[in-house]
Amino acid sequence: MTAVDLNAKIPNNVGLADDPVIRRALEHWQPKYLEWWKDMGPSDYKESDVYLRTAVGVGKGGWANFGYVKMPDYRWGIFLAEPEEGAPQTVKFGDHVGEPLWTQVPGEMRNMLRRLVVTQADTEPASVEQQRMLGHTAPSLLDMRNLFQVNVEEGRHLWAMVYLLHKYFGSDGRDEAEELLRRRSGNEDNPRILQAFNKPVRDWLTFFCFTAFTDRDGKYQLAALAESGFDPLARSTQFMLTEEAHHLSVGENGVGRVVQRTAELMKQGVDPRKVGAIPLDIIQKYVTEWSTASYDLFGGEDSSNAADAFATGLKGRYREGDGIYKDPRALNQQYEVQVAEGDHLAKVEIPLRRAMNALLLDAYHADCQRIVARWNRTLAEHQIDTKILLPSLRFNRNIGIHGGKSYDPSGNPMSREEYDRRRPDWLPSEADYRYVQNCMVQVKERGKFANWIAPPHVGINEQPIDFEYVKIH
Ligand SMILES: [Fe+2]
Ligand SMILES: [Fe+2]
Repeated sequence: MTAVDLNAKIPNNVGLADDPVIRRALEHWQPKYLEWWKDMGPSDYKESDVYLRTAVGVGKGGWANFGYVKMPDYRWGIFLAEPEEGAPQTVKFGDHVGEPLWTQVPGEMRNMLRRLVVTQADTEPASVEQQRMLGHTAPSLLDMRNLFQVNVEEGRHLWAMVYLLHKYFGSDGRDEAEELLRRRSGNEDNPRILQAFNKPVRDWLTFFCFTAFTDRDGKYQLAALAESGFDPLARSTQFMLTEEAHHLSVGENGVGRVVQRTAELMKQGVDPRKVGAIPLDIIQKYVTEWSTASYDLFGGEDSSNAADAFATGLKGRYREGDGIYKDPRALNQQYEVQVAEGDHLAKVEIPLRRAMNALLLDAYHADCQRIVARWNRTLAEHQIDTKILLPSLRFNRNIGIHGGKSYDPSGNPMSREEYDRRRPDWLPSEADYRYVQNCMVQVKERGKFANWIAPPHVGINEQPIDFEYVKIH
């Protein structure tokens, strides 16, 4: 493992100092990246001192270094996780199981691998673009800091993927790296690759749902790539996962704090709508919207691309290396799923290798059930009977075997007419979005929070809640 070089123009532990061709290519890309950050990163607050953590190494604890940083001065670096001690250096799954890990891209896998890397890479700048206006309506300094932390780290994730493109894909990789700075979230002519990353994120409830559900898709995609037989990809994504965990907690705790605030008001007999807080029915609709949009990110349940990515050893199952699956080749097994056939559900069998997206989606869904159960415990603690429902994997899908079919949020098939009639009960309307938008007020006083959200239980890095997390100049 190469030591961490923090003084280089681009901090890294990938030995850029001894790799002049790639170093020059990346130093050429760096000003374009900074230009993109200036144009499409957080609007304003460029002069503010933000209490950020910066990755300065990959060892235990050493990678999270806290201090005040102006965002444009953040040190975006390239870090690969250390190889796991004692872990077998062989491919864990697919047709090549047991063969040594690849340190170069095998020719026949080149296109597929490039597509996997580019698709992952594209989500990173996309989310920064989606969130760029939110600083102006941050409900507290602590939340504002969390937003900016997520933003700079998504920027670093882009760096991680761009390094792979430059290092392993030659001039194609360089072209892809340029394109990543050219596409724009929500742009009609040159949109981001995946649909959920083109949806607007205009308010903080959306931001929290996005980080709870959409970043969580990212976690599962990264986890599947972290099993990869292509070692540089596996170790890049392993390190990204350590940062991603923070994004997920921002989302999970964020929605949880909104639920808590609403529950407190309801317990006191106060109508949340009368005091600029967010009623439960709107929270439910947001959860439904963003969870289902995130289900689609997993791709089709029955997918030959997914089968190929598994067979070649590029993308594994969740926790593939932990020995929880009975056959690392996933042959001669079927995956069962229920699909609407007229007004009832019928069983469909998919050969397991073709069902890799469905399998990953199931692991994701179980994780989402856990966070929703936590929000529901908060409601129960306030003696509120209503529960938040995590929608069925069949509901509101545009992609895969349920795409375009009509189900209710519990997954029961229904006619298109009834679905269209009841849809406004389930998904946010323009009026709902407008209502939430009206609740958004910026709170810049230390330790104070907007009325629609409860303070968190703890501060960042053991600092108090009323710490000056952003010094706005
Ligand atoms: Fe990311
Ligand atoms: Fe993230």
